[in-house]
Amino acid sequence: MNIISLFPDKKGLIPQAAQLLVDAFREHWPDAWPTFEEALEEVQEMLEAERICRAAVDEQQNLLGIIGGIPGYDGHVWELHPLAIQPSLQGRGIGRALVEDFEEQVRSKGGLTITLGTDDEDDMTSLSSVDLYENLWEKIRDVRNLKNHPFEFYQKMGYVITGIVPDANGRGKPDILMAKRVRSVVK
Ligand SMILES: CC(C)(COP(=O)(O)OP(=O)(O)OC[C@H]1O[C@@H](n2cnc3c(N)ncnc32)[C@H](O)[C@@H]1OP(=O)(O)O)[C@@H](O)C(=O)NCCC(=O)NCCS
Repeated sequence: MNIISLFPDKKGLIPQAAQLLVDAFREHWPDAWPTFEEALEEVQEMLEAERICRAAVDEQQNLLGIIGGIPGYDGHVWELHPLAIQPSLQGRGIGRALVEDFEEQVRSKGGLTITLGTDDEDDMTSLSSVDLYENLWEKIRDVRNLKNHPFEFYQKMGYVITGIVPDANGRGKPDILMAKRVRSVVK
């Protein structure tokens, strides 16, 4: 497996990237990219010059996974968005490799923090279908993963929950906000 930068001239990989977004999010986030055309628009945005877009590929240039990053706060903070691994290849360390590579990319650009939002639209965690305005921080502290929600993948990668957007995807369907420090502030 190689991890490469995805540029607009990588014509063969771009449609694969769009199809991957559709396939990887279909089961639990059906509204994310319901069609190839909508996913292709997202991929075109991922390729914008100021962003980071990295792809894991095999020797035949088949796309295994993709990760994107959007700069904010004068480049101090990068939002990780999106991340997707081919459904048949999940659980084999590709996501970890792409996130580690992404962190290196952010570091090399002088970034301090990576943030992300990971939606729970399908009762995948104990933070869904509850009143988050009541004892919010206890609920976050005691969060449980009910259906393999990716927040736990990010926790394994060192990300912490920094907040939540209640009802982000409709009533009881929050967006879980997470962050990781990727560079110590020395000066
Ligand atoms: C979530 C996703 C990116 C993880 O990538 P992956 O290649 O399957 O994960 P890895 O094999 O690198 O897993 C790294 C570790 O995280 C754990 N992990 C991976 N996905 C997990 C999940 N959904 N829930 C709990 N733990 C998970 C693995 O068991 C592994 O743990 P270990 O180090 O103790 O062995 C991938 O499954 C995916 O694309 N899912 C669909 C789309 C998605 O959820 N994107 C992120 C939305 S914000």
